[in-house]
Amino acid sequence: MDPMEFSQVVRTRRMIRNYDPARPVPEEMLARVLGNAVRAPSAGFSQGWDFVVLRTEGERAAFWEASTTPGREPDNWLLGIQRAPCLIVCCSSPDAYLDRYAQPDKGWTDRDAARWPVPYWDVDTGMAALLMLLTAVDEELGGLFFGVPVEALDTVRAALAIPTDRNLVGVVSLGYPAPDRKSPSLRRGRRQVGQVAHAGRFGTPLAL
Ligand SMILES: Cc1cc2nc3c(=O)[nH]c(=O)nc-3n(C[C@H](O)[C@H](O)[C@H](O)COP(=O)(O)O)c2cc1C
Repeated sequence: MDPMEFSQVVRTRRMIRNYDPARPVPEEMLARVLGNAVRAPSAGFSQGWDFVVLRTEGERAAFWEASTTPGREPDNWLLGIQRAPCLIVCCSSPDAYLDRYAQPDKGWTDRDAARWPVPYWDVDTGMAALLMLLTAVDEELGGLFFGVPVEALDTVRAALAIPTDRNLVGVVSLGYPAPDRKSPSLRRGRRQVGQVAHAGRFGTPLAL
């Protein structure tokens, strides 16, 4: 397989919500997905991320049982995602950042979370998740990033033995794509560069 052009990877990436359950993710592909994830940038090179990889039927079933409402009839979305042969639960560690920035070269010894303009621990884990999604495209796999419902956070944490000091940033599902429906959200249309890029000051559209 020839490597895909980077711009083609970016342009063909879309969230895949149905998978071929008969085709597991080959181990070497999973290794590349995770190997690229740990190349993500991180504030202070804190790298405060962890990824819980669920590959067996039992591991995935434990996740789905913990993350879905008991007795709820699965909708098409859930049926499609539940066919994914691999789930990667992406966790972030606020403490890794507070500890790192308390070191002498940073000097924020008060470990005050108010110093952080946004939670960089979650930002960085999101960057790693994006690298997984892009690598999936490069490997001709499909992927989806989705969130764990707030009411299921504790049960998922318990089911997967994720320590309580970790945030559950989201889950990347991976697998060979099966026919699916594109997100209806895409009908909103993509905001174009001229609408979102401002020249010099907010409100002056950047014309390129
Ligand atoms: C932070 C985040 C959370 C998302 N959560 C979900 C989700 O829970 N379920 C889902 O089907 N898609 C989810 N998506 C996918 C978005 O719906 C999708 O990225 C968007 O509609 C654009 O489509 P595309 O990624 O296929 O281009 C999420 C995306 C992001 C970045």
